[in-house]
Amino acid sequence: MQEFTYSDTTLMAESVPLRAVAEEFGTPLYVYSKRSVLDHCRNIERAFEGHPHMSFYAVKANANRALLRLIGEEGFGADVGSVGELHVALAAGIHAAKITFSGVGKREDEMTAALRAGIHAFNVESTEEIEVLDAIAGHEKKKARILLRVNLDIDAGGHAYVSTSLKQNKFGIPARQSAEVLRWAKGLAHIDVRGIHSHIGSQITKAETFLRAAEALVSLLRELAVAGIHLTDLDFGGGFGVQYRGYIAHPQIPVEEPEELNLSAATLIRTVAPLLRETNCRLSIQPGRSVIAHAGVLLVKVLYRKQTEDKLFVVVDGGMNDLIRPSLYKAYHQIVPLELFAREQESADIVGPLCESGDFFAIDRRIPRVERGEFLALMCAGAYGYVLSSNYNARPRPAEVLVDGSTRTLIRRRETIEQINEA
Ligand code: LLP
Repeated sequence: MQEFTYSDTTLMAESVPLRAVAEEFGTPLYVYSKRSVLDHCRNIERAFEGHPHMSFYAVKANANRALLRLIGEEGFGADVGSVGELHVALAAGIHAAKITFSGVGKREDEMTAALRAGIHAFNVESTEEIEVLDAIAGHEKKKARILLRVNLDIDAGGHAYVSTSLKQNKFGIPARQSAEVLRWAKGLAHIDVRGIHSHIGSQITKAETFLRAAEALVSLLRELAVAGIHLTDLDFGGGFGVQYRGYIAHPQIPVEEPEELNLSAATLIRTVAPLLRETNCRLSIQPGRSVIAHAGVLLVKVLYRKQTEDKLFVVVDGGMNDLIRPSLYKAYHQIVPLELFAREQESADIVGPLCESGDFFAIDRRIPRVERGEFLALMCAGAYGYVLSSNYNARPRPAEVLVDGSTRTLIRRRETIEQINEA
């Protein structure tokens, strides 16, 4: 599982020293471990213990085609949130019959493209959306399979921006209204109502939160059945949290206490699966982060050390445009040197080169002293890293490299200034 480790004092990705990769491809650079991707997929699949289910990988977490291909080859389908993601998933060889389409604002052209491709199902979120889908499906002479996303009004904890199942959030239909909406939708000519869907948030590490959601869904399905609405599909969504703090250990790097109980995605799935199985529905999940977060790191180079009266700043060549999670969600990524030299530890703000104070990776972080020209790795950056990168400050997006044993393959070229300057 742990494919990024120190061999003596050198940080490796599988059998490759990361410093060699940084020097060969330049920084900032995303590097992924193939072994890690495969292991995470397999652990999630094993958590179902042979029970029939479908895992739709949430493409929004990382849409690199080479990585999607690996995940698809492990038997995963894909959950897409846009026609762009649909396109990438299909191009990565994932069969349309294994693709679902989620999101609160699907455009008509996106629904048309997904219907024509023949996707498995639409996870729908409003009555207007269902009406539009019904009309498009009629025009296309097709039937659209739907799962109704329900809002369970559950506080999933974590950052407010990624909580999705509170009643004040824009997502889903209140569970109380679901019977009425489902009954109405069943009457539509071009809609095939299959089931319900829920996704309560992201980076959830408490088993009890998932258990509450599972219990709410099980009782909702029971109530619906009593009301004469019999459903066959239940999609439990994603959100399974991963360890960020203290992911990697070495006597020369500061000890970080993991923030939560540290339950793996597989353990979280194992706690809810028996309950969900009782419904006898076709079960599915949509894991994103738990598949890909641990499989990637972001490498950056130290540009300058800068000591002011109050602070030591370590200025690196990657910034919030390359990895926005610390700036946007105050997210924590462990930061470690690619080479350890038995130097003293110091406390520093690790900051990028962009033009605002929000451009930081860590504040008052203890790290072993690093010098200009040396490299750092931001750990667990495989999910919501590259996909959230931007051209802020007219900075080209980073390159992406996949390591497999001792081989490394460029899986996305670094963007060029010419590309971002095109009309
Ligand atoms: N299904 C739906 C409908 C979703 O909206 C999401 C994520 C997932 C599945 C996958 O959730 P996961 O297993 O990855 O937690 N940018 C934020 C995370 C946003 C999550 C958005 N939805 C971050 O960097 O933490």
